[in-house]
Amino acid sequence: MAAIRIDPVTETDPARLPAELGFGKYFTDRMYSQRYSAQAGWHDASIGPYQPLVLDPAAQVFHNGQMIFDGTKAYRRADGGINLFRVEQNAERFNRSAERMGMPTVPVADHVAAIETLVGLEHRWVPHQPDAALYIRPVMIASEKALAIRAPQECLHYIILSPVAPYFAGGFAPVAVYVSHEYVRAVRGGTGEAKTPGNYAGSIKATEIAIAKGYQQVLWLDAVERRYVDEVGAMNIAFVYQDGRLRTPALSGAILHGVTRNSVLTLAQDLGIETSEERIDFLEVLADIASGRITEMFGMGTGAVIAPVGRLCYQDRDIVLNGGEPGPVARRLYDELTGIQFGRLPDRHGWTRQVRVGQGA
Ligand code: COI
Repeated sequence: MAAIRIDPVTETDPARLPAELGFGKYFTDRMYSQRYSAQAGWHDASIGPYQPLVLDPAAQVFHNGQMIFDGTKAYRRADGGINLFRVEQNAERFNRSAERMGMPTVPVADHVAAIETLVGLEHRWVPHQPDAALYIRPVMIASEKALAIRAPQECLHYIILSPVAPYFAGGFAPVAVYVSHEYVRAVRGGTGEAKTPGNYAGSIKATEIAIAKGYQQVLWLDAVERRYVDEVGAMNIAFVYQDGRLRTPALSGAILHGVTRNSVLTLAQDLGIETSEERIDFLEVLADIASGRITEMFGMGTGAVIAPVGRLCYQDRDIVLNGGEPGPVARRLYDELTGIQFGRLPDRHGWTRQVRVGQGA
């Protein structure tokens, strides 16, 4: 495993953070980085001060958008320790995104060791308040100076940390989603299942429309028929049926392989809930909400955790779900998932690992 150089850093005091953390507003004192070149592979791994990057204006990232990221979290356990959750899955997804964008992969053990070491050094920044966590944001950019549309010969991999509340203010409070029929997010065979900024950049115009109409997020339909449910801006989506079933769109190539999505499916099965991953016709969803067959709808993501959907807008019709309140199945799954993440419930799937404070890996 590649050695990580630890550079001196002037520490600040996380106790000075406001009680309302929001999402991605505050960052810790340190960051991890390593460089890649086609000749030398990954090298120069270090943890040093969080600081601006110096990049050539001709770096490929600025011209081709060759950049990927991921998101995972460190959780404060009730006994004071720190849990990471399924961090290997995030490292593997990071590599799938890298491959899709023609970028080099990072050995999973090195990526996980980088996270463990960084979080171990920044342990004071893992929040103590309920539902808050330390968000871990690994990034890779093509740093080669070249106006050339091809695989980069040089890259930078870095990891930053941000103490956060759940992505949606109010934590488990229901969100309102706007179904876009004008814009699409991704098409099968495109980059929709990679965690690459272009997918998010392309979603902003529709999100602004949603926000102007009083909704928080966009629900994307498939790009070809504009009929089947893909995902919501910052999360995968699931529907709960009156007969107890839970359905979520299948991984079609156009939607993100959510680690939270996968965890929720497993936990639902543990609770005896029948689950299915399939193509979900949005017109059927509308009919099933109207008839009461669909009782709940919720989003799933690392940032969002489990976010109940209280309201939906489709072609200027406002549709309320479960009286605009979080439903019992979302609540149960939220309690189960966060119980494991924060170490309150037994980790029967071996999803968590504790970070060694002060030194990490
Ligand atoms: C995450 O949940 O980690 C994401 O990357 C989504 C982001 C909008 C917070």
